[in-house]
Amino acid sequence: MMEKTFHIPVLLEETMKYLITRNDGIYVDGTIGAGGHSEEILKRTNAKVIGFDIDPKIVKIAQERLKNYGDRVLILNRNYASVKESLKELGIEKISGFLLDLGVSSYQLDQGGGFSYRFDEKLDMRMDRSSDLTASDILNESSEKEIADIIFKFGEEPKAKIIAREIIRYRQRKRIETTGELVKIIDKVVGKKYRLKVLARVFQSLRIAVNKELDNLKMGLESAIDVLEKGGRIVVISYHSLEDRIVKNFFKSNEKKCICPPDVGECKCGKVQVVKILTKKPITPKEDEISLNPRARSAKLRACEKILELE
Ligand SMILES: C[S@@+](CC[C@H](N)C(=O)[O-])C[C@H]1O[C@@H](n2cnc3c(N)ncnc32)[C@H](O)[C@@H]1O
Repeated sequence: MMEKTFHIPVLLEETMKYLITRNDGIYVDGTIGAGGHSEEILKRTNAKVIGFDIDPKIVKIAQERLKNYGDRVLILNRNYASVKESLKELGIEKISGFLLDLGVSSYQLDQGGGFSYRFDEKLDMRMDRSSDLTASDILNESSEKEIADIIFKFGEEPKAKIIAREIIRYRQRKRIETTGELVKIIDKVVGKKYRLKVLARVFQSLRIAVNKELDNLKMGLESAIDVLEKGGRIVVISYHSLEDRIVKNFFKSNEKKCICPPDVGECKCGKVQVVKILTKKPITPKEDEISLNPRARSAKLRACEKILELE
């Protein structure tokens, strides 16, 4: 029997501290999930919250949880990468804050979506069940090189090529349908000592590929900065280095004033500073939060403030 887990919002106090700049206005929760962070924004302010989630089941859960806040909340079953267009459709020009709490919610882990190597389930991994590609499709239909690239690029797993070869060998006999089969394949080529690390990396890589997580993150940040008001904040909680690197680089490139080569003298690039980074180093959870919520262990929070209104 699978253990049911209640989703506890990660770095809640820290998120509120960095995100909330005013009592009114509109905050966008790009990954509303079970609505933990959003509920806290609603409790602490009189602002409106627009929530996004690609998983329709999760949207229902959040709607039910936040129903007492009436028209202060609107939850859309959409990808946060479309935040700019979605707000335009709603006639909203500017927002005071944009929050992303990346990854899978505990509810999704309990839904048998094949996200975890700890449970033997169908190898699906789609957060948005209306999309076509599952993790099983990737493993059964991609070439050996494509599979190795996914595992190496999105899992940073040094044994990617060996694992990809074993996947191909296995699927010549039978389609790979379950997480259990993938675990067996990995167990054949990886020793006990590194087993859990490798499993985590391979599963992470497939989840990122299936849900196009890194592309969404890049698009979402680009989109959000345009609709953020001056003084508004972006807060992102990430759970692995690939996500964190994207957030860090995005903030840094928007903080830079000039990108001319050093020998140019007078600036010719015309680049201006758009944000101020508020977290020089990422904020991480304290030990007491981690002991209450193991999911928080790898969390890193970064925040920036928009200091310039672009035309
Ligand atoms: C970690 S949970 C968020 C938990 C939430 N902060 C809370 O306190 O309950 C992440 C959620 O983001 C959603 N998600 C992931 N990628 C998304 C995307 N590109 N657009 C919209 N939602 C996304 C997932 O379906 C999941 O429900």
